[in-house]
Amino acid sequence: IPGPTSLDMARAFRSVRADPLSFLASVGERYGDVVSFPVPGPPALLLNDPADVRHVLQTAARSWGKQTVQYAALARVTGPGLLASAEPSWLDHRRLAAPAFHRQRLDAVAAEVRAAARDAVTTRLGPGRHPGRSEGEVVDVSALTHRVGLDAVGRALFSADLSGQAQRLLTATSDAADLVVRLGRSILPTAEWTPTRTNLRLRSARRRLDQSAAEIIAQRRARRSSGSTHGDDLLGLLLDSDLSDAEVRDELVTMVIAGHETVAAALAWTLMLLAEHPSAQERVRAELADHVGPVSLTGHRETLPWTRAVVDEALRLFPPAWALSRRAHDVDVVAGQEVPAGTLVIVSPWLVHRRPDVWPRPHAFRPERFLGTDAGRTAYLPFGQGPRLCIGREFALGEMVVVLSELLRDHRVAVPPGWRRPQAQAQVAVHPRGGMPLLVTRAPGS
Ligand code: HEM
Repeated sequence: IPGPTSLDMARAFRSVRADPLSFLASVGERYGDVVSFPVPGPPALLLNDPADVRHVLQTAARSWGKQTVQYAALARVTGPGLLASAEPSWLDHRRLAAPAFHRQRLDAVAAEVRAAARDAVTTRLGPGRHPGRSEGEVVDVSALTHRVGLDAVGRALFSADLSGQAQRLLTATSDAADLVVRLGRSILPTAEWTPTRTNLRLRSARRRLDQSAAEIIAQRRARRSSGSTHGDDLLGLLLDSDLSDAEVRDELVTMVIAGHETVAAALAWTLMLLAEHPSAQERVRAELADHVGPVSLTGHRETLPWTRAVVDEALRLFPPAWALSRRAHDVDVVAGQEVPAGTLVIVSPWLVHRRPDVWPRPHAFRPERFLGTDAGRTAYLPFGQGPRLCIGREFALGEMVVVLSELLRDHRVAVPPGWRRPQAQAQVAVHPRGGMPLLVTRAPGS
């Protein structure tokens, strides 16, 4: 299997660290659909062919697990919560959490998500904040999207108001995400107990997350009247189950991290694309003007098809989860080659979504590709594929449409003068480096 040599890797060392997305794109372009990296022991492969990707993530998923450096690093923060878990107990936890994401439940919490979006829009962009500034204001919309993302998780999944803890949770999550990425790419593994700078900072981030989780759980326990259950939101399901306190904490921290970092990044990129494409944005506003009643969290393909297509296309171009990894439990055949147990596979939605054979003009923003067609679906995996598919997929898609509707109904986003796109920074999610400063004005008539 072709791929870079050890010397190539040594030469590329700095660029791999600085910009892993460009590095992956360059090796994909150079070596093709299957790329082998020079590592001691079992092979490490980058798979770009949609059929091979489906094999590992879906068809042969039983033979592939999450025993990888990427998920081990994440587990240092989330413990073996749903996302990082490589344990057989994953399935029980998944079944336990699933009802919190079912359609009826999402319909029940839609008003909470709308309220989260409205609050963030009013606080950050509301009338009176900058009276008399009809020319608009340059706002870092990623600060707004982070706030909504966290607030929505709190309200919809924990029935909790996280505003008092928001600052601590946002900084602890951002610190943890940064450190998880450092650990994931470190060459020499260090024991968790060694007092390296990274370990100490990670311990501090974890302590802050633990403290917030403990407060959220204690508040909820205090609310329960005797004899009743905790209810059917996610936290209620976890507390009414036979999970230990530590397991509940792990799932709660997992949802805080997985549930807001990704949505926040995805929304920031979506707003950027709409700022760069004013006619696509006007079409969203026109669709929203015709929409009758409050925007729900589900069914957007029928009720708001253009807005949903915009979200789908933004997730194609800027999939927050840019790399997924798996390790083979057994011997398997991948891309026609036998690979031994222990083989590491990396799949990058970022690369697969840019395949010109599936996505014509792959770098162009063209939401119409998603209108009423299934074209390209086999090479589309912003939420993963197979049994480990994102449990929050419908919630995330619904939340994105709701936030766009609350924001764009009354506001217009545009690129500020001297615009240069922020660099895509591959952290736990792909974030705009330095935030996403956009020019926000109130839409005429609002
Ligand atoms: C899993 C992406 C939003 C919770 C995943 C995976 C991806 C993903 C790609 C699969 C990882 C793998 O196979 O290795 C995204 C994106 C989101 C998003 C792009 C937003 C645009 C959410 C939200 C939540 C969430 C809102 C919860 C509130 C999870 C969990 C898992 C997961 C718990 C692990 C599921 C399991 O293995 O059973 N996500 N996600 N995600 N996601 Fe999301």
